[in-house]
Amino acid sequence: MQTKTGTEEQMREQLHVIAVDDEPFNLELLKAISLQTYPHMLIFTDPKSALEHISSNPVDILLVDYMMPRINGIELMKLAHEINPEIMTIMITAAGDDEKVKLEALKMGAIDFLKKPINAAEYRARISNITKLKLSQLILDDFNHQLQKEVSKATQALLQREQEALKVLSNAAEYKDPETASHVARVSHYSKLLALKYGLNEEEQEIIFYASPLHDIGKVGISDALLLKPGKLDETEMDAMKKHCDIGWKILHSSENPYLKAGAIIAKNHHEKYDGSGYPQGLRGEQIPLYGRITAIADVFDALTSKRPYKEPWPFERATEYLQAQSERHFDPQLCELFISHIDEVRSIYEQFKNA
Ligand SMILES: [Fe+2]
Ligand SMILES: [Fe+2]
Repeated sequence: MQTKTGTEEQMREQLHVIAVDDEPFNLELLKAISLQTYPHMLIFTDPKSALEHISSNPVDILLVDYMMPRINGIELMKLAHEINPEIMTIMITAAGDDEKVKLEALKMGAIDFLKKPINAAEYRARISNITKLKLSQLILDDFNHQLQKEVSKATQALLQREQEALKVLSNAAEYKDPETASHVARVSHYSKLLALKYGLNEEEQEIIFYASPLHDIGKVGISDALLLKPGKLDETEMDAMKKHCDIGWKILHSSENPYLKAGAIIAKNHHEKYDGSGYPQGLRGEQIPLYGRITAIADVFDALTSKRPYKEPWPFERATEYLQAQSERHFDPQLCELFISHIDEVRSIYEQFKNA
């Protein structure tokens, strides 16, 4: 959008005005009586050249003669409005043109009419009105444009603060866990990659990017004695540990925030298994929400390929074989295949966040 600034007079002088009439004499006359109002008015005797000009230049006001050979004034106005709907048009009619012409011109969007022979005083009064109208429209457009810019700046700032808060929350979620900040970063990126390859839109990819690190937030409700216990957990201890899924859900689910809502779904479902042998609900196949199925792959793959106090990192090949073997058992087979077929992109995320 073009914007015009300055005093009303300066703005008026910046207006782009063109006049089209097949009679050079009429045009010269029009130009002469317009000089004060529109010192830079351009004139065209050929409607086609006028249209070419409109196609590649800004035009605010169009003065057009009705009676022209080949393209008449109404046709020209119609084509001009197709190129630039913001143009304001004044139609110039001759004594012989009937009322039908006027009606049609009005329907096509003409703002005003002038009768030939042109009366200079009437003409000036009419173009003064149309100029005021055009200027108010431009000022309003400019104001809307500024407003839009302000709104998008404010939205951006709000989004940034929200994402910062989510990062802090994710760090808190991992704080009680032996897992590291680089695990959080990789799970985010692996989950987003899977969301993208699965065909989720950009908004959903962003949501899973920020929500997937919240998968273990429920561990804040599990005792340190249990969380940090070396070696295998017995059945009672395992049952207590499994509660972190429901605790995570309880912490997050009541929020209206889409990231936290998704976080709640992921916290609850990231230990479900495709064959129904997971927890907490033993959901099966597509009963398990998609975000949960995605995060399960990202989380397990990263745990396998990371060093933990009780194990060395698995090489990618071994971890990939494990995913393959667990396809349809632990993991959604379609997501598993997508993850494996884009293993090069997975590896570059791994390299990028190896020691983050
Ligand atoms: Fe977990
Ligand atoms: Fe994790």
